[in-house]
Amino acid sequence: MNIEKIKQGVRGNIGQEIFFYPVIDSTNTVAFEKALNSREGLVIIAESQLKGKGRLGRKWVSPPGLNIYMSIVLKPLIELTDATLITIMAAVACSIALRKISGLEITIKWPNDLIFQNRKIGGILTELKSENKKIVFAVLGIGININADSKDFPEDIRNIATSLKNETKKNFSRTKIIIELLNELNKWYSILNSDPKTVINKWKELASTIGKKVRVETVQENFEGIAQDIDEKGALILKLPAGKQKRIISGDLKELS
Ligand code: BTN
Repeated sequence: MNIEKIKQGVRGNIGQEIFFYPVIDSTNTVAFEKALNSREGLVIIAESQLKGKGRLGRKWVSPPGLNIYMSIVLKPLIELTDATLITIMAAVACSIALRKISGLEITIKWPNDLIFQNRKIGGILTELKSENKKIVFAVLGIGININADSKDFPEDIRNIATSLKNETKKNFSRTKIIIELLNELNKWYSILNSDPKTVINKWKELASTIGKKVRVETVQENFEGIAQDIDEKGALILKLPAGKQKRIISGDLKELS
């Protein structure tokens, strides 16, 4: 990974300042610690993580030298109730960047999984600091499996995870991919701040979820139904078997058909 080259290749606020760590607990944790006293767009990149965090308290397996583990400090001007849009925006940017680099049709599973043919190739974890119902900062954590072989994944996720290399049998330059990712993030973040509807529409175009029969597990309850839409705040609109609609802000989704 060549951090100088990344800085030179990036246009926009995100990525002007980059901290690199060979080993770290979690890039999200470090970004969170630095966020208050840093400007928007700070990027933390690690070669490996000892305590990589996934959504819903899960672990994110982060072996050295193979993949991308990166966190970005954002100070968006949007309302706290719109915070899901940060993740939605990031999924759009990542999916577009990865499609450009690999030619693979990488889709999005609500809200933020990056998927290739039913296997997870990347994930996004947004952590927020808020005060008086306002966002103070957001840490956008992105993990993407690039050059990992299937043997590099722990056995329990081997048949649900994949990487760019696994799908194309080619090695990829992580430097080039990070440049592409940061440039797409710069573009879509500025669209988010001016015209969030465009981000939502692009998400719908890239997602695999809409129209599918799904099961959604939320903290309180589980639901099954047809994923009908996402609304202007990024919440999933589920059509329940009885015909009623259910709006779900956050949860774990499985596509059933
Ligand atoms: C998910 O569960 O799908 C989200 C995974 C997010 C992983 C990334 S890797 C970089 C950043 N640091 C972390 O500890 N997690 C995120």
